Amino acid sequence: MKKVTRAVFPVAGLGTRFLPATKANPKEMMPVVEKPLIQLAVEEAVDAGITDLIFITGRTKRSIEDHFDKAYEIETELAARGKHELLRMVQEIIPRHVNCIYIRQNVPLGLGHAVLCAQPVVGDNPFAVILADDLIDAEPGATRQMVEVYNRHHCSVLGVEDVPRAQTFHYGIVSSTPLEERLEQVSGLVEKPMPDLAPSTLAIVGRYVLTPRIFHHLAAIKPGAGGEIQLTDGLVALMNEEKMLAYRFDGVRYDCGSKFGYLKANIAYGLKYPQLREMLLEYMATLK
Ligand code: G1P
Repeated sequence: MKKVTRAVFPVAGLGTRFLPATKANPKEMMPVVEKPLIQLAVEEAVDAGITDLIFITGRTKRSIEDHFDKAYEIETELAARGKHELLRMVQEIIPRHVNCIYIRQNVPLGLGHAVLCAQPVVGDNPFAVILADDLIDAEPGATRQMVEVYNRHHCSVLGVEDVPRAQTFHYGIVSSTPLEERLEQVSGLVEKPMPDLAPSTLAIVGRYVLTPRIFHHLAAIKPGAGGEIQLTDGLVALMNEEKMLAYRFDGVRYDCGSKFGYLKANIAYGLKYPQLREMLLEYMATLK
């Protein structure tokens, strides 16, 4: 059986919800405490055994490539100042055995199109898709949990969680029947339904492990909602052909595409730092 060793990171989106911060900087480079969202997503992939990181990128996203590349100036400077710990941190952002591959999505045709752009590199292999603005705090990481499900069931796996009914119009929503603990068999999918039309409240969050057959469907579908090629529409076609599972990951998700979710993530991750925790708690207790 082929292993999941490739992950696709669609990072070409404009990030309009965080303007003006995202006018000249990619939203994926926004930090949670001191790590950019895209680095946290990459760490989750590497933890899952992924060795090929495929970034679907676009104009104004150069700093993502620079972030995962060698930084001669800063490395020379840190070495000269004897700051060895910081130097190691900068040098070890990507382990040596891991490759970074960049593909330009030069037309903004949607998430499904972004994933399709990875086909020449993914080929006939299963792969993960990770949306960096859905930050998932989990141990083991959400992608690792899902790769384990893939290894047992050999089919596509969608990362899901229940959301308030009022929010279904932000997500792909799944109809399903329970299979085992945390696992459901998918029987239907609809992209961003209004609350009264949503078949359930089980939402796809930004984690997928997919079989390569998805490319066939993404290449065939017509633009859907918003004139975009929707990944969810490709998944519907795939589900009609192959078994598909929804996996309720064990972890906490922060929607870092929204200001509230992003701020919550910064507080939650900040509280993990022993040197920040007390100060943060004390400070928050003074707020009204
Ligand atoms: C995308 C998908 C949607 C999914 C969501 C998770 O939407 O189209 O099905 O639920 O990611 O974050 P987007 O947030 O890109 O609009």
